[in-house]
Amino acid sequence: MLFDLTGKVSIVTGASKGIGKAIAVGLAEAGSHVVLCSRTKVELDEVAKEIEQKGVEALVIPCDVSNPKDIQNVVDETVNKFHQIDVLINNAGITVKRPAEEYDLNDWNKVIGVNLTGVFLFAQAVGRQMIKQKKGTIINVSSIGGETALTGSIAYCASKGGVNMLTKVLAVEWAPHGIRVNGIAPAYIETPLVKAIKEQRSEFAQRIEARTPLNRLGMPDELIGSAIFLASDASSYITGETLKADGGWTALGL
Ligand code: NAI
Repeated sequence: MLFDLTGKVSIVTGASKGIGKAIAVGLAEAGSHVVLCSRTKVELDEVAKEIEQKGVEALVIPCDVSNPKDIQNVVDETVNKFHQIDVLINNAGITVKRPAEEYDLNDWNKVIGVNLTGVFLFAQAVGRQMIKQKKGTIINVSSIGGETALTGSIAYCASKGGVNMLTKVLAVEWAPHGIRVNGIAPAYIETPLVKAIKEQRSEFAQRIEARTPLNRLGMPDELIGSAIFLASDASSYITGETLKADGGWTALGL
């Protein structure tokens, strides 16, 4: 069955809330066992309970994606338990907003460290295992900011533009090993952070809605379909592609 993930093993980074949590639960519903990573164990335990109710296994491994040792630990523990890794969702991401001329180097390094270096390191560690297996799919969560300029977000946009290119290079390098590498680029999605912005600065939220052809923010659950598509055999001839899930944001010219 094209969209079936029964028996697969998926790692999701940044799985404690927002988009990562939605995708983790969605993959579980499609039949995949899920390894949940982010920095805080308590929140992950809650997500694990929800996933186990779907009749699959959940493994919680706290991890900072900017720490190579943590990443290797996730790979080792996953292989110890499940003997394989079929899917990696590189989702963990952060932002610091400030005008470019005031942007602090520490903040730059922090954002690039999680959003770009973290994605590279995780893909590299999991990729080595997938090369041994001769199969696997990697999905990097990018953003419209990887392709369009978001003011006050120079490090974020640079990191996501880097992720889009990293996706293509890995896709090409690892295609001979049976590994596909793709991305998902959402626009504004109503995660807790964006929800708070919406509530506090409703004018800003209204501007975003008006700028979006579908005329609303996206919901985290609306990214599940893209993730299952790219993780499953339904996308077996697609690699190096970053799929826009942006309500038409980047299609709009005027
Ligand atoms: P969120 O803030 O709701 O969740 C982020 C997750 O990443 C949390 O689980 C957090 O614990 C984890 N995380 C943060 N730093 C980490 C680190 N160093 N190591 C391990 N885990 C870490 O964020 P949201 O909104 O769900 O975003 C998820 C991804 O989607 C990010 O890559 C973000 O750039 C991207 N995205 C989000 C959009 C939105 O409107 N919410 C729009 C476009 C892209």
